[in-house]
Amino acid sequence: MPRKPLVAGNWKMNKTTAQAVTLAQDISNLYDDRLDGVDVVLCPPFTDLKQVSTVLAYDKSRMTLGAQNVCWERSGAYTGEVSPEMLHEIGCLWCIVGHSERRAYFGETDGLTAVKALALLNEGLTPIICVGESLELREQGDQAAEDFVASQVLNSCSGIPGAELSRIVIAYEPIWAIGTGRTATPEQAEASCAAIRAALARNSGPEVAEAIRILYGGSVKPENAALFAPMPDIDGALVGGASLNARDFIDLAKGFIPR
Ligand code: PGA
Repeated sequence: MPRKPLVAGNWKMNKTTAQAVTLAQDISNLYDDRLDGVDVVLCPPFTDLKQVSTVLAYDKSRMTLGAQNVCWERSGAYTGEVSPEMLHEIGCLWCIVGHSERRAYFGETDGLTAVKALALLNEGLTPIICVGESLELREQGDQAAEDFVASQVLNSCSGIPGAELSRIVIAYEPIWAIGTGRTATPEQAEASCAAIRAALARNSGPEVAEAIRILYGGSVKPENAALFAPMPDIDGALVGGASLNARDFIDLAKGFIPR
């Protein structure tokens, strides 16, 4: 079965609630029915989730909601944290985990990413597990980068039972391409995504690997989206900067409508 493309907007730490409502409304107004062929996901900050969820419900939108982070525990004394159940109740179907910014600034590891992903799956949410190599690694050669991200994926989903694994989404985001305006070439991105899929196939069997959606992320824009979309192992995009502009985000998502 062909994998349905997925385009997720990662708003990062941008937009107050009032600004988020405006952006969600603007995106919703530009939504085109042809985008029903793509899973379009908005991932605002925690504080905006409720209001963005209300906008989507009011518009009977086919877009869905995701968070950017989650706690691995169900409840308890974890000051400042937000549980999978809380995200579920507020209407999130998705949650980004292991983003390179969380790894770099908050010390998050593959192991922590894996337990967060499992906690999300247990609550019925889909984790979008991020991986990606540094510039230093890429400069050691394409093979080194591909080997690194393949092992990062396996470590970041260790402990997820086989039956659940096909539900996860992977986002391949080379760190040197995030927010820099510098993208991987479509061929480089495809080679990394193919290496990730091959590693998943070796680990969990070809059927599971074929079902998992793998996104590319890193300076995806309306102008370059259509270059990544035809790549056989790229099933969509995780978008930062361009997701903060309604027109750009929608135009970019349209680049992934199946032809
Ligand atoms: P960018 O961010 O599109 O601004 O490069 C992507 C991401 O960090 O998810």
